[in-house]
Amino acid sequence: MSATVTVAPAEEQINYDINLPYVRVAGEAYEGTKYPQYLPTWDPVWFEPLRPFDYQDPALRVKDKTKPNLLQGGSKVTHIQPFLGSIVEGVQLSQLNDDAKDELALLISERKVVVFPDQDLVDAGPERQDKFMRYFGKPNYQPVSGTVRGHPSFHIIHRDGNKEEIGRFLEQRTTTTLWHQDVSYEIQPPGYVMLGLLQGPEVGGDTIFAATDAAYRRLSPTFRSFLDGLRAVHSSSMMIAHARVNGGLVRKDPVQTVHPLIRVHPVTGEKCLFLNGEFITKLQGLKEPETKVLLDFLLNHVITGHDFQARVRWRPRTIVLFDNRSTIHSAVVDYLDEEYGAMPRHIFRLCAMSEKPIPASDR
Ligand code: SIN
Repeated sequence: MSATVTVAPAEEQINYDINLPYVRVAGEAYEGTKYPQYLPTWDPVWFEPLRPFDYQDPALRVKDKTKPNLLQGGSKVTHIQPFLGSIVEGVQLSQLNDDAKDELALLISERKVVVFPDQDLVDAGPERQDKFMRYFGKPNYQPVSGTVRGHPSFHIIHRDGNKEEIGRFLEQRTTTTLWHQDVSYEIQPPGYVMLGLLQGPEVGGDTIFAATDAAYRRLSPTFRSFLDGLRAVHSSSMMIAHARVNGGLVRKDPVQTVHPLIRVHPVTGEKCLFLNGEFITKLQGLKEPETKVLLDFLLNHVITGHDFQARVRWRPRTIVLFDNRSTIHSAVVDYLDEEYGAMPRHIFRLCAMSEKPIPASDR
């Protein structure tokens, strides 16, 4: 049964993630897209909570770290930034065998964000895309996002117009960026995440990523050992409340999970800040102002750390695979048109749920 969530009156509510529609998109969107099947739909299905499951990271199966199955002759890897982000050309994800997929998991663990331009997998249909990501972990069923009909593991990011909504949002906010790690409230949150561009503005609508292991290493040893023992409460209830108030459909009860604030990456062994501008409601054992000051400091540290960030510029038929354990990210909603609102930007997301976060304090 759906739990009741207390929310502020409708007139006080703004859509807190301006990337996401909560209700059916305008009819014109159907005429302006090559991908109508991927416009968000909300079917009244109900999802049970994610239960604990066994997970082994596919990257741990790789024996030859040079990745001979993935990076064959003709492929080219260009780094976006020294710590994170690579562009891989000459590889079609749709053609990878299992050994190459294991190596891909290793490459994503090492580089954190990997961009594959001009992928035929974008046009291969939801079944093939879904199957591809199930190799890397369990699918996620999101409580409020629009999905592809019959394929509820898809989370659809879509913006097109909606000038009034954006105006209302910017009356309350100074920026559209919202730094977060995807679906962190689940007991076993996503490890690997796929984003596939269906349609986007010629310029703008980039996605920005920061490395949370590099951010952790920049802190002093004294501060790090204090953080190592902390635990944070992650909750989906705010997002669900927003969707309800905006007339959206809710398909899952709110989930609240206590996770370590510092988690260990299962492949690299690095300690990472497990941080979120969207879903953390409390740090256990701290008072409210202490939680606020600490989270504000850590988020600010990550957001201002341009020396451990990478910016992905979308090109047609690009697929981005990123590591949700060692990065935090935000979309950049800068593709606004004075007259119309936002230009069309349409992306599908598939998450592969992975291990229960490994606490740094266990080491
Ligand atoms: C996301 O926040 O998961 C997607 C990022 C984007 O829209 O660029």
